[in-house]
Amino acid sequence: MKKQTAAITAVGGYVPDFVLSNKVLETMVDTNDEWITTRTGIKERRILKEENKGTSYMAIKAAEDLIKKSGVDPAEIDFVLVATATPDLPVAATAAYVASEIGAVNAFSYDLQAACSSFLYGMSTATSYIESGRYKKVLLIGADKMSSIIDYTDRTTCIIFGDGAGAVLFEPNDEGLGHQDEYLRTDGCGRQFLKIEAGGSILPASEETVKNKQHYVYQDGKSVFKFAVSNMADVSALIMERNGLTKEDVNWLVPHQANKRIIDATANRMGVDADKVMMNIQRYGNTTSATLPLLLYDYEKQLKKGDNLIFAAFGGGFTWGSIYLKWAYNS
Ligand SMILES: CC(C)(COP(=O)(O)OP(=O)(O)OC[C@H]1O[C@@H](n2cnc3c(N)ncnc32)[C@H](O)[C@@H]1OP(=O)(O)O)[C@@H](O)C(=O)NCCC(=O)NCCS
Repeated sequence: MKKQTAAITAVGGYVPDFVLSNKVLETMVDTNDEWITTRTGIKERRILKEENKGTSYMAIKAAEDLIKKSGVDPAEIDFVLVATATPDLPVAATAAYVASEIGAVNAFSYDLQAACSSFLYGMSTATSYIESGRYKKVLLIGADKMSSIIDYTDRTTCIIFGDGAGAVLFEPNDEGLGHQDEYLRTDGCGRQFLKIEAGGSILPASEETVKNKQHYVYQDGKSVFKFAVSNMADVSALIMERNGLTKEDVNWLVPHQANKRIIDATANRMGVDADKVMMNIQRYGNTTSATLPLLLYDYEKQLKKGDNLIFAAFGGGFTWGSIYLKWAYNS
């Protein structure tokens, strides 16, 4: 018997109904469908329009979808981890509310924030708890209401982001499937290029910060692009190399959906063909913490037990990394 590993045993997802297409964005800012499509690969994104609903609304929907599909008893879930850059409230963990609402009455919970790498890092946390033998059922949710922090008069950011949520359940596996290896990195110099300036402890909210639009995402797109391309490609190649994986061994690349050109560069560096690259950026844009689980949600039926998946992400901070995971079930 192989050592106990931590595997994904169920997947759920949710995206809001409202579709914000490139065509509609053309009426809001000085942009056009052709520019957005060729520079990013995005055609449309989903926006949570319901009033007074935050990230938890989508996280709960994704978790409920997983519970319904898998039949897992929420009372048996030990830990609920919500990966998000847009919590419901600055203080009071979104995860605590989500856990209560889905009936995870015996769980503890907290949020994890690492910008677009939140879900990837969450996979590391969730699997470590299980590999240690301490817990048996960990629900990891990636959810973001990016529309709550985007300036829809800024054409350099409003075309990129969307709202959504995805959830996965991690459980012990004694066939050696699930999490195999990871390589996670950060570089704090990156925060000048991608940030929300105000609303934190350095610059608390004031009339001035609102007037100056400092509560919205600021991004130096060119610099972020450069770092993202080289770092995502480097870590993905590294994780293949140190696990002795050839391009034929890799069944799927599961890349953060920030920009199709970044995804293509990563796949090229790994030598992986386009038909092995999960992609839904055209429909959802960049949903930050939700991109990776929404890919699993969309591709679940095509995944086979034993498939080798390479996850890769890059985000604000900077934060980035790659995880090698063996898929554990046939749908
Ligand atoms: C944002 C991004 C799509 C911009 O693409 P780019 O090719 O770098 O474009 P640039 O920023 O160099 O802008 C090129 C020109 O297009 C213009 N432009 C910017 N946004 C535009 C838009 N939505 N529509 C039309 N033109 C636009 C710029 O003003 C610039 O014009 P100029 O040459 O006259 O100054 C790209 O930099 C990117 O994807 N960066 C990484 C984003 C990311 O991954 N973020 C999340 C990290 S997880």
